[in-house]
Amino acid sequence: MRHRIHILGNGSLGGLLACRLSPFVDVRMILRSPPYPQSNTDDKRLPLTLDLAGERQSWRFDWETADAAEPISTLFLTTKSYSALNALDSIRHRLTPASRILLWQNGMGSQMQIAQEYADMAVYAASTTEGANRPEDGRIVHAGHGQTWVGPLSANAPFQEAQRLVDLLREAGFSSETTKDIRAQLWRKLSVNCGVNPFTVILNCRNGDILEHAYFQQRIDALCEELSAMLFVAGYGEPAANVKARIVAVAQGTANNISSMLQDVRAGRQTEINAINGFICDYADAHGQPHPVNSELTAGVHALSDHSGQSA
Ligand SMILES: NC(=O)c1ccc[n+]([C@@H]2O[C@H](COP(=O)([O-])OP(=O)(O)OC[C@H]3O[C@@H](n4cnc5c(N)ncnc54)[C@H](OP(=O)(O)O)[C@@H]3O)[C@@H](O)[C@H]2O)c1
Repeated sequence: MRHRIHILGNGSLGGLLACRLSPFVDVRMILRSPPYPQSNTDDKRLPLTLDLAGERQSWRFDWETADAAEPISTLFLTTKSYSALNALDSIRHRLTPASRILLWQNGMGSQMQIAQEYADMAVYAASTTEGANRPEDGRIVHAGHGQTWVGPLSANAPFQEAQRLVDLLREAGFSSETTKDIRAQLWRKLSVNCGVNPFTVILNCRNGDILEHAYFQQRIDALCEELSAMLFVAGYGEPAANVKARIVAVAQGTANNISSMLQDVRAGRQTEINAINGFICDYADAHGQPHPVNSELTAGVHALSDHSGQSA
């Protein structure tokens, strides 16, 4: 029998993973509510299309709602960071100490909270630079290939299982590696997101364009000092100049991209700012460190989004 993977979070990343993995495993989507009935078909499975390298693939997936009873052996959690814990709690009754949970959230905070609350389970985190978006419901575009790292988060997560997850991701075509210290990857990605995403929102521009703006140029050095200080506190210390070099390299390397945060603001959706610069503000407060630039950027994004202060 094929291994079954449940995916909770039928969005851009969840849809991408579902389509790419389904030739190799039995994918089952967990939905908040049943999908709209498809006209002209008796097939009740969830339809998804994936635009990949100029080709459109069509898939159909078995789905269930959170209240189903079947135990879950492997779960990919692909909601936004602010929904992650609530979403996981909605299927808590289906998880056992034998369950493997792989968290795909960007930013920081939700992963550690889940690792604590689900400490008796095998909790892993992924950090990925794959890029997917969802121009309309049921249609996923794989916009850019990237690199994925997977590593254990909870004490009950054996490293060999991380390797199995990576083997599966590789089989599905994702360039992936295991890491014994996934927190290091999450912090590194967090520092880049802190230096790119809020600027794209405040300046309403593509990633590469932030580099030309005085608003970015006047703040980036001070921002990198704040980020570097927090990286040192977290145990992943790096000089501010390195942090800045990485931010500039990513902005240049993804120059034509519209960041996910700007896409969220333009679509009137809640952003993940609280898990990105907002997380740094909370972390800095907890360690008695100043964070004026992170505060300014967090407030700037909240001011431009309809969802400031929402947490779920
Ligand atoms: N997209 C990417 O390329 C990418 C790359 C790297 C990392 N990430 C990270 O991956 C995470 C997901 O990103 P995304 O772009 O896929 O977001 P997304 O398109 O907004 O998808 C999130 C999905 O989760 C669903 N959801 C939320 N709460 C739920 C619940 N309680 N039960 C069931 N479903 C629930 C949402 O449903 P509704 O639509 O009904 O709200 C939505 O379909 C984020 O943390 C993001 O930063 C994404």
